[in-house]
Amino acid sequence: MTGNKAQPRKTLMLFTGRAHPELAAEVAEQLGIEISPTTSYEFADGQLFVRFQESVRGCDAFLIQSHTRPINTWLMEQLLMVDALKRASAKRITVVSPYYPYARQDKKHRGREPISARLVADLYKAAGADRLMSVDLHTAQIQGFFDGPVDHLFALPLLADYLKGRLDLSTVTVVSPDSGRVRVAERWTDRLCTPLAIIHKRRDPNVPNEVRMFEVVGDVQGRTCIIVDDMITTGSTITKAADALYANGAADVIAAATHGVLAGEAVDLLKNARISEVVVTNTLPIPPDAQIDKLTVLSIAPLLARAIREVFEDGSVTSLFDGNA
Ligand code: R5P
Repeated sequence: MTGNKAQPRKTLMLFTGRAHPELAAEVAEQLGIEISPTTSYEFADGQLFVRFQESVRGCDAFLIQSHTRPINTWLMEQLLMVDALKRASAKRITVVSPYYPYARQDKKHRGREPISARLVADLYKAAGADRLMSVDLHTAQIQGFFDGPVDHLFALPLLADYLKGRLDLSTVTVVSPDSGRVRVAERWTDRLCTPLAIIHKRRDPNVPNEVRMFEVVGDVQGRTCIIVDDMITTGSTITKAADALYANGAADVIAAATHGVLAGEAVDLLKNARISEVVVTNTLPIPPDAQIDKLTVLSIAPLLARAIREVFEDGSVTSLFDGNA
C-alpha cells in the first residue's frame, strides 16, 4: 500500500442563528452558497434547542450570529450551535459575531465588576470555537481575550467611501466624539485627507448612560463635521456631540458608526437631533420603525463574505485592509 490517499476536499458551510437571518442570507449570496439548514426553537421553560439538518462532519464551519436584543438568548443559541458543530465533528469552527457581545465591559471600571467581554471569549472557546471574526471591536484588546485567531474587520472603508462620494471633502472635518475614538478618527482623516477635531467628554460613573460634554478641540467653524463612532446605542453621545459642534460654529453634522444598536429612545433622539444624516452598517438588524429618512444602512455582508472566503482558502484577511484602514 502506498500512502498516496487523495486529500478530502474542504467544504465551507455557513450557519446562522435566528437573530439576523437577512445578514446571513446576504453573506451566503455573496459567497454563492446556501445557508445550512438548522432547526432551532425554544422550549416552554425558555431553554433553547438546536440541531443541524445535514451532516457537518469535516466541514469548515462559519457560524453567524448578530447580538441584538434579546442578546442573552442569541448568545446562548450561538454557543449551543458551536457545541453541536463540535460534537458533530466539524473540522474547524469560526464564530462570526459582527457586533461582539458584551464588548463594552472589557475591564473592571470599579471593584467587584466582571470582565464580561473576556467571559464571552472564554464561553466561545469552551463551546468549541477555533476562530473568531468580528467587526470594529469596542476596544482592540478584546482580540487578546480569545485564545485563538481573531479576524478583526473594519467598516471604515465602507463608511468612509460612501461619504466620500457625497461630500466636498475640502469642507469636511472628522470628529472623534471622545478620547477613546481618536485613533479611529485619525484613520478616517488619513483616508479622507481632512482635519481632525476631538470632543472631550466625560461620563458620570454614578449615572448610567449619562454623558457630559466638554469642549471641542479643533476648528469646526463653517465645516461639515463627520462624527465617527463604533456604535450608536442611546444616541446620547452623538447628539450631544452635534450640539457641541453647532455651538462651535459647525455648518452641518453627519454621524457615521459601525453598529446601529439604537436602544431605547435612540431613534426619536436622532430624528429630532440636528444631524443631517446618520450612517451605520447592518451588523445588527435595523427594525422597520427605526428606518427613518436620515438613517442610511450600508451592508457589511460583502466584507464578511470576503473575509470568510480568505479564511477558508488560507488567504489573507489583512490584505482586505492593506492601506485601507
Ligand atoms: C463609547 O465609548 C462608545 O464608543 C460610544 O460612543 C457609545 O457607546 C455610544 O453610546 P450612546 O449612543 O449610548 O451614547
